[in-house]
Amino acid sequence: MDRIRAPPAIELENISKNYGDIQALKGLSFRLEPGQRCALLGPNGAGKTTTLKILVGLLSPDSGYVRIGNYPPVSEEARRIMGYLPDDASPYRSFSVRENMEYIGALRGVDDVSEKVDRLLDALQLREYERAKVGRLSRGNLQKLAISLAIIHEPTVLFLDEPLNYLDIPTQEIVIDQLKMLNATILVSTHIMEVATRLTERVIMISHGSKIWSGSLSELKELGQDGEPIEKVVARMLTDAV
Ligand SMILES: Nc1ncnc2c1ncn2[C@@H]1O[C@H](COP(=O)(O)OP(=O)(O)OP(=O)(O)O)[C@@H](O)[C@H]1O
Ligand SMILES: [Mg+2]
Repeated sequence: MDRIRAPPAIELENISKNYGDIQALKGLSFRLEPGQRCALLGPNGAGKTTTLKILVGLLSPDSGYVRIGNYPPVSEEARRIMGYLPDDASPYRSFSVRENMEYIGALRGVDDVSEKVDRLLDALQLREYERAKVGRLSRGNLQKLAISLAIIHEPTVLFLDEPLNYLDIPTQEIVIDQLKMLNATILVSTHIMEVATRLTERVIMISHGSKIWSGSLSELKELGQDGEPIEKVVARMLTDAV
């Protein structure tokens, strides 16, 4: 029986991006099927943030093809289904936590914003800060707020740039559970292997703007010799790629 295949949730084809003389991305290609959770893993300066910014339409590539669920990133359709946690998330500092959530929720067209905000305040343990001005939050609580703003409209395609930064260990567990509960396609940029293993089941490894490996976490583990930790395998692959 013929089945109509859903388009890839994320598709990037032969993307290049230069900043002046710096070649940040050199012909990068990959795709994620709907529902896949994947880490974009690479050392500092590899091009991870640049890749995410291109995928969400904040940067234009110099060349190549990008689609989110078959739509260009800047289209209405793509914007509606996407969520994005930037690496330098900056909620409105003079608004309270609740005001930020209600404002972004309203902009995103969320139904029953107030109830949704209540649920997120409890789920992310931000209730006691609901009336606090953002400028007075600790870095970790600011990160929790930024995560809630990225998921308030229940995106089906979610881009996260170093999402567990600044979070203590119990909070990391809470955030991981909330992100997994969304059942979204997730691309999470990180230089920390452990973030990949806790949030995703696939890995795309990049170095100097090029893909050096992609596959499932179990395939990656199999590349280790004699029970070698996965971090060592990755470190070797990245060193070999230089
Ligand atoms: N606005 C910019 N102007 C000039 N060069 C930039 C700019 N943004 C990034 N770059 C350069 O592009 C390359 C890729 O940077 P990018 O921020 O995408 O890396 P990254 O993998 O996210 O690194 P990190 O792990 O440190 O966050 C680096 O060489 C960086 O110095
Ligand atoms: Mg980055």
